[in-house]
Amino acid sequence: MSPLPAQQTAPPAADDKAARPAGADAASAPPVAANWRGYLRVGSILAETPSVKTFRLLPPSGDLLLPFTFVPGQFLNVAFSIGGARMNRSYSISSSPTHREYVDLTVKREPRGAVSRHIVDLLKVGNQVEAAGPVGRFTFDGTEADSVVLLSAGVGITPMVSISRYLTERSWPGDIFFVYTCRTPADYILGGEVAALQRRNPKLRVAVTMTRAEGTDWNGPRGHITKELLTRLIPDLASRRIHLCGPVSMMEATKAILAELGVPPDNLKTEQFGAVKPAPAAAGTSLKPTATAAGPQVTFSTNNKSAKIHTDQTVLELSEELGIGIEFSCRIGTCGVCKVKMTSGEVTMAVEDSLTPEDKTNGIILACQAKPKGDIAVEA
Ligand SMILES: Cc1cc2nc3c(=O)[nH]c(=O)nc-3n(C[C@H](O)[C@H](O)[C@H](O)COP(=O)(O)OP(=O)(O)OC[C@H]3O[C@@H](n4cnc5c(N)ncnc54)[C@H](O)[C@@H]3O)c2cc1C
Ligand code: FES
Repeated sequence: MSPLPAQQTAPPAADDKAARPAGADAASAPPVAANWRGYLRVGSILAETPSVKTFRLLPPSGDLLLPFTFVPGQFLNVAFSIGGARMNRSYSISSSPTHREYVDLTVKREPRGAVSRHIVDLLKVGNQVEAAGPVGRFTFDGTEADSVVLLSAGVGITPMVSISRYLTERSWPGDIFFVYTCRTPADYILGGEVAALQRRNPKLRVAVTMTRAEGTDWNGPRGHITKELLTRLIPDLASRRIHLCGPVSMMEATKAILAELGVPPDNLKTEQFGAVKPAPAAAGTSLKPTATAAGPQVTFSTNNKSAKIHTDQTVLELSEELGIGIEFSCRIGTCGVCKVKMTSGEVTMAVEDSLTPEDKTNGIILACQAKPKGDIAVEA
């Protein structure tokens, strides 16, 4: 990978209304709750573990309050220009929305990750970060149920900490069962914060299990989250609202346990942080198709390009072959970065979590999920 410049995002253009600081009006102006896009400033950086840092992002210079509000469990989409390519990624907000003056993102450095390495290694206090959101339906603010079970692993702890912080600060009266797993005590992300919340909130019951505790001073539970652990810790598990977030393998194993324990699908909310995938092609990169496609015709009207799509190929994948440059982040239907307007035709989408009813009315589709039923045209 080519060396990464320290400052990746240009500050907003003077005439960019969405990105412009609200100035002295910020405190009195009504907050923008969604679809905000602009720049935040890195105010401080805290090392959580050897590979994880929390970045406290502040409103644009001079503003007192963030230009948006969020619900605990939501995330921001951030964009960087790295090695000449624009790259988007999603990061859950780990702070509580009760603090309107900052937002925390807690980022794990993936050894071969394009963007997380850039963020963790190179982002400095004072840098501007291009962000959009807040986004996401993996939310819990205490109105949805009278108790909640938060199951997470690794960096999947971030939305759970936001939820726990919020409920604690609001003195929410319900039981919070917080179950977390990581490898060793050194990998316990935001562990000090969880312990502090536990001291403040008698309704917050925390259980942490470590999978590679040998040789450490850990004297708590060991191993993965199991059926036995959950039934021992959480009475009437099947009747409670459950949130689950972690690596794909942990999520699949835990979902199977919850199904065995009779948890109805409606009680379970999940958030996947991404699929295991090879390094994604940068927006604008042209990939060569490997075989002649025989599927429906897809027209990218803005680029004036058209091609037949392969069986099981998504509109995003075809766009990458043609060098169209549709932006993406998660590629699993969660973040909404790949939204494009479809002007004709019909598609199927396995996941459409990030589409609002308004998006659907307006013909917006998720390129990373969309598979054409027949010929289609999109504005891209
Ligand atoms: C809703 C949502 C919320 C999220 N919240 C958080 C959060 O709070 N904190 C957080 O840290 N992350 C979070 N993520 C994950 C985050 O968006 C990124 O996916 C993550 O940081 C990895 O991005 P990257 O660019 O560093 O890795 P990418 O370059 O996208 O690589 C993805 C993975 O593939 C591996 N990889 C890359 N290249 C190769 C290769 N050639 N061969 C094999 N493997 C390879 C990388 O090591 C990495 O694990 C969230 C994701 C979503 C969708
Ligand atoms: S890339 Fe995230 S929804 Fe398509």
